[in-house]
Amino acid sequence: MAETTIKYTMMAGIFATSLGGAAWAGGPADDKLVIDDELEITTRVKAPEGHPLDEVISGWHYRTDETRALEADSFQNPGMLYVERGEEIWNTVEGDAGKSCASCHGDASESMKGLGAAYPKWDEKAGRPLNIELQINKCREDNMQAEPYKFDAADQKSLTTFIKHQSLGMPVRLDLSQGDMQAWWDKGKEVYYRRTGQLNMACANCHEDYNGNYIRADHLSQGNVNGFPTYRLKQSAMVSLHNRFRGCIRDTRAEFPAAFSDELMALEVYVTWRATGLSVETPAVRQ
Ligand code: HEC
Ligand code: HEC
Repeated sequence: MAETTIKYTMMAGIFATSLGGAAWAGGPADDKLVIDDELEITTRVKAPEGHPLDEVISGWHYRTDETRALEADSFQNPGMLYVERGEEIWNTVEGDAGKSCASCHGDASESMKGLGAAYPKWDEKAGRPLNIELQINKCREDNMQAEPYKFDAADQKSLTTFIKHQSLGMPVRLDLSQGDMQAWWDKGKEVYYRRTGQLNMACANCHEDYNGNYIRADHLSQGNVNGFPTYRLKQSAMVSLHNRFRGCIRDTRAEFPAAFSDELMALEVYVTWRATGLSVETPAVRQ
């Protein structure tokens, strides 16, 4: 009993509600994201059936005016440099087969359009879902005879950003009827609600129960994934989704799972589903 009390006290201590503060300090900012004054981005949408919240809200709403403005202007968005670099890689021949991505897939704005909104996807041969990073590695190994990228290699992040960017503005929608996707969703949900670490907290404690509040200096969002890979101002770099997952887990406990492990892939399937209906924002800009 005493231990439980201590844990709850610790939890309560790190959260600060904005009650009593200025009204705009808490909750999502009332604003609309239109990129370059022409592309309307869906940043708030009614939650899909079975979702614990009524409304799904993009992390964009929880950032400062300055950060939100950066994402609305693609000339100022620092993530766009990675999109450009990704396009270069797309057209570069690598590996023993003497091919580039473009050799087989042609113009990415056509062949990759919409894909980023529908990943992870079931892969029959692998018997597990693949995300864009793993699909890139699959093509590099099987179709280019090139080395797979190591996790978070600069080129992996740029190429993933480039591919996801081809779906900018399109709604996130997973097909859970493929293969065993539903079982991976179930497993991901279990991970999402599992309390771990010294703080004994789950993803849901921060991103479901406390979104809109401040944790230390950070304005907590719903933890949606529709902007990944995401440009983080704090790190002056693109951050991949599994890097973000690991960072959030590391904050609650010492041990954290490997990138692309079954645990993090299941989490990616489940958390991507939670963002159903939000537009792909890649490259989003966050703090
Ligand atoms: C020699 C031809 C070839 C090359 C080169 C190639 N691919 Fe592929 N790619 C394929 C084939 C065939 C498939 C479908 C079967 C599979 O998944 O391997 C595919 C599938 C994909 C898919 C999934 C499409 C979907 O509908 O879900 C993506 C994404 C992709 N490739 C990206 C890339 C990228 C990025 C590169 C460069 C690093 C690349 N490919 C290089 C042949 C190629
Ligand atoms: C102790 C609180 C805490 C826990 C527990 C936590 N996070 Fe986070 N998370 C944060 C903070 C703080 C941020 C940065 C502010 C924000 O976007 O919410 C963040 C950001 C994120 C983002 C980026 C959102 C965006 O719009 O870019 C994702 C995705 C995310 N978390 C997923 C998770 C997942 C999945 C788990 C469970 C494995 C988890 N978080 C557990 C505090 C937490």
